[in-house]
Amino acid sequence: MWTTAAESRPVESLPEPVGEWTRDHAAATCFFRSSNWYPPVLAGVRTLEEWLFAAGLIEEAAALTERLSPDDYGTYVTAWYREGLARYGSSWRYADIITALLAASRRLVPERYLEIGVRRGRSLCTVASQAPDCALYGFDLWVSNYAGIENPGPEFVRTELDRVGHRGSVQFVNGDSHQTLPAFFAAHPDLTFDLITVDGDHSTLGAAQDICDVMPRLRIGGILVFDDVCHPALPGLRQVWQELVASQPRFSAVTFDEAGYGVGMATRRF
Ligand SMILES: C[S@@+](CC[C@H](N)C(=O)[O-])C[C@H]1O[C@@H](n2cnc3c(N)ncnc32)[C@H](O)[C@@H]1O
Repeated sequence: MWTTAAESRPVESLPEPVGEWTRDHAAATCFFRSSNWYPPVLAGVRTLEEWLFAAGLIEEAAALTERLSPDDYGTYVTAWYREGLARYGSSWRYADIITALLAASRRLVPERYLEIGVRRGRSLCTVASQAPDCALYGFDLWVSNYAGIENPGPEFVRTELDRVGHRGSVQFVNGDSHQTLPAFFAAHPDLTFDLITVDGDHSTLGAAQDICDVMPRLRIGGILVFDDVCHPALPGLRQVWQELVASQPRFSAVTFDEAGYGVGMATRRF
């Protein structure tokens, strides 16, 4: 069983919401009344899939990545989008962290977004492009030359956010997420998020710990995005996603693992 390193708390012991549907929730996916018959989440896996594979989304992802400062990886991914669209047109079913965040942030228009693993700000800018007033919280260790790509740090990311017209607040929390997340949450006991991305430490246990640490702070109806679920060099990430999220009744999850490195996207039901 996975546990958080901070508290050695089993995942199953997250607070039980039965009778507590008034808990903080993401309005875009919830139907909330003072007295509720159903759990308030309206949109589950099939709706999320519709959002993820909506017409024009990959084209928009390509246009967005072209607005950012180029790097080898970004240029490659943009060319990948263009090639898939040229070959298969609207019948191409493809998803990655960028299309998932475009789809999720467009629907949720998050008030607060937390991201572990910012690097050059590509995923952060994706959310900001759809929710310019969103308060952004980016956690990164800024590992130099991460996966062979320059990792210039927070000031660079701020200039990227300007490119997509972000107006809200931005807070970077620098350091190892396994230390910074528990400390940050302890200092902000009531802070919850509509949208969270886990894309930092790619070790199996490290990614599992990050998911466990952020899960209690995801609003009901909020969306969790997890990158690289079918990365050939990182098979443990698929296991983490399956065991902690996709198979859990607490979540309704889409897993895209057919091409590229894959992505998982799940809404928190309770
Ligand atoms: C794959 S990159 C993030 C890519 C970004 N989400 C995007 O879509 O462009 C992973 C990032 O996680 C950071 N990272 C790795 N281990 C970490 C840790 N233990 N704590 C915080 N950040 C970490 C690295 O510095 C790197 O910037």
